[in-house]
Amino acid sequence: MLKVIGKIVIIVSEKNIFSLTNKYYSYVFRVGDGGILEHIYYGSSLKNPNNSVSHHYQTHRDGVLHFQGKKNYNLSELPQEYPTFGSTDFRFPAFHCKNSDGNTATVLKYKNHRIIKGKNYLSALPSARGGECSTLIVCLEDNLHKIEVDLAYTIYDNYGVLVRSANIKNNGNNKLELNNIYSSSIDLPASEYEILHLHGSWSRELSEESMIVPSGRFVIESNRGSSSAAHFPFIAVCEEQCNEIHGNIYSSSLIYSGNHSISVEKGEFNDVRLLTGINSFNFNWSLNPGDNFQTPEAVHVYSKNGLRGMSNIWHSFIRDKITPKNFNIKPRPTYLNTWESSYFDIDHQKVLKLADKALSIGLEMIVLDDGWFDRRIDDSSSLGDWYADAKRFPDGIQDLAIQIKRKGLKFGIWIEPEMISTKSELFKKHPDWVLKAPGRIPSLGRNQLVLDYCNADVVNYIFDKLDKLLSGGNIDYIKWDMNRNMSEVGSPVVSAKQQLEVPHRYILGLYSLLNRLTKKYPNVLFENCASGGNRLDLGMLRYMSQSWPSDMSDPIGRLNIINGCSYLFPLDVLSAYIGPSPNHQNGRISSINSRFNAGAFCAAKGISLSDSDIDNNANELAKLINFAKEHATDMIGGSFYRLKKSANVFCWQYITKDKKKCFLLYFHILSGPNEPFQHIKLVELEKNSKYKQTSNGKLYSGNLLMENGFTLPYVSMTNDNKSISYMPKGDFSSKLFVFKKV
Ligand code: DGJ
Repeated sequence: MLKVIGKIVIIVSEKNIFSLTNKYYSYVFRVGDGGILEHIYYGSSLKNPNNSVSHHYQTHRDGVLHFQGKKNYNLSELPQEYPTFGSTDFRFPAFHCKNSDGNTATVLKYKNHRIIKGKNYLSALPSARGGECSTLIVCLEDNLHKIEVDLAYTIYDNYGVLVRSANIKNNGNNKLELNNIYSSSIDLPASEYEILHLHGSWSRELSEESMIVPSGRFVIESNRGSSSAAHFPFIAVCEEQCNEIHGNIYSSSLIYSGNHSISVEKGEFNDVRLLTGINSFNFNWSLNPGDNFQTPEAVHVYSKNGLRGMSNIWHSFIRDKITPKNFNIKPRPTYLNTWESSYFDIDHQKVLKLADKALSIGLEMIVLDDGWFDRRIDDSSSLGDWYADAKRFPDGIQDLAIQIKRKGLKFGIWIEPEMISTKSELFKKHPDWVLKAPGRIPSLGRNQLVLDYCNADVVNYIFDKLDKLLSGGNIDYIKWDMNRNMSEVGSPVVSAKQQLEVPHRYILGLYSLLNRLTKKYPNVLFENCASGGNRLDLGMLRYMSQSWPSDMSDPIGRLNIINGCSYLFPLDVLSAYIGPSPNHQNGRISSINSRFNAGAFCAAKGISLSDSDIDNNANELAKLINFAKEHATDMIGGSFYRLKKSANVFCWQYITKDKKKCFLLYFHILSGPNEPFQHIKLVELEKNSKYKQTSNGKLYSGNLLMENGFTLPYVSMTNDNKSISYMPKGDFSSKLFVFKKV
């Protein structure tokens, strides 16, 4: 059977070879001996994918196990599509479940398949949007225990992306206990691979780490209740000697915001298994007869053009198919956020005063961060109550918003809807509305507990509170924060036997709330924050158009974070502001210009400065805000490139979609005397067009900038720092060059 939808081809040959092919890649598997789904090929697009030959040869080794009596056929070195445990494969399985007989041996064999135009949306989980794509659904069955697994594979016309998920159905008469249920498993052929992954902690999120894939199993995972800053749900498996420009890369992420796990296992025959899904540690799901369990979607990006090629695919896919449509191509308003400007020392008059300051330098929105609600003068109280502090905000939030809007500014507000302070009216009334383990003292994090989102009453209560806030129609933007990891995770509304379901049930509760809210208020711009980047993932981005990636507002600290982000996320989804100097996180003193430049390619730009800081730097700030506004539309939808990263230099390029404007940012961390010049080669310009460097009017051909490069650092040898075409002298200096096509 051949099914061609647009430029996508899904072929199912008579030999039961399934191949998914678009111009970017082919993905091929077949129904192998004994009905096992055998993986054949994943890589650059093949002309005749169904002619692919399985690389698996039957093993003529003495002493090997023979799968179900089949001579010389065992699963331990067979590349598979959805491996189970209990037979002859000893690698970590995609599926592991305890059957009613107490045993975990499961064999999933091909039952049937279907192909649909487009793709299905998952009902309780966020999923990638469809469009020009088609989906192959292969149904596998364990005949003994009547377990059915639907594996869904979506291939798009215009992206090097494969979206996979699994749906498990209990067709038997007895309960099943699901232990591992990964969304996807990809068995890559034996080779030397390297992994790139992103790890970190508060204020130093998204640090990259690369290593040769070791023998054994390397896992990034979270058991903190959120996807976490410790290990972001992202891995790139790169063929040896891969770099920014060259090489095959198989990368993976998950549309999920809770406990994830992505593992890479190098087996005894150097084969590599990539598993992506919910973390199976401390997880167990009871599946009653007739019920089903849907995994989140795993998103895989294949690139044959190294890391740049990979990031380009992720960026366009996330922008087009993940982030909310209402904002994905909208320029973002420039803003003043009150957090590092005032912290908890904030009131109605101060906000109005800051609003005037914001207006005076050309900003477009004021965001009232933490501290606006009843008795919130520090972080010890009142989360959950969500009404304005009567003394400090006597007119309430709606009136304040109206007054701000009358001045011509948009109004945004901070909220932390998943949390509760023990010092709150809500806690007095509903001490049981929190996550807790029976008999244990719950650990406080930032003086707060986590609300129990497994409980529909809690979710409804928070929905009503937010609905009340938003229904006034005066709030343009919500900064949704979440400031602690989950501990003593348990829910009083879930049975004792099902307590290991709580982390996933929590996330389902959160998604149901976000779904309701964002559907009701599609024009409110939601920003995702979790103490910075503690929950920056494709799940949250499906509801929220932008993310605050880190509380690190020092430019040098932030460079690494943005660089890490850029492997996966388009910079359209990031916000950045000019914070105070010395920086409150690391004490570094830096120029306003460098503080702006570090976030120059993030779509949402602002400041978080006190009124005296604004006064003292008003002219420079006004100029930068003006620049941000002039290029706000440019900073959405273009392409970002990491041109150079070393211990002392970050050099990035951003080019608009129409290729009419190109921005080159060079950051010099520590200055040195008499430095050698470098030829920075720009990319993706039109080679026959001319580009004018706006600072000095110099003309260059696209060809020249790409082949011969642009010479940097152009440090002035004099002391005046006046020439606009030179890098400023000194540490932490940076220069943003703009080239316009003429
Ligand atoms: C953590 C966030 O990352 C900050 O930006 C700020 O909103 C504080 N929370 C407020 O409590």
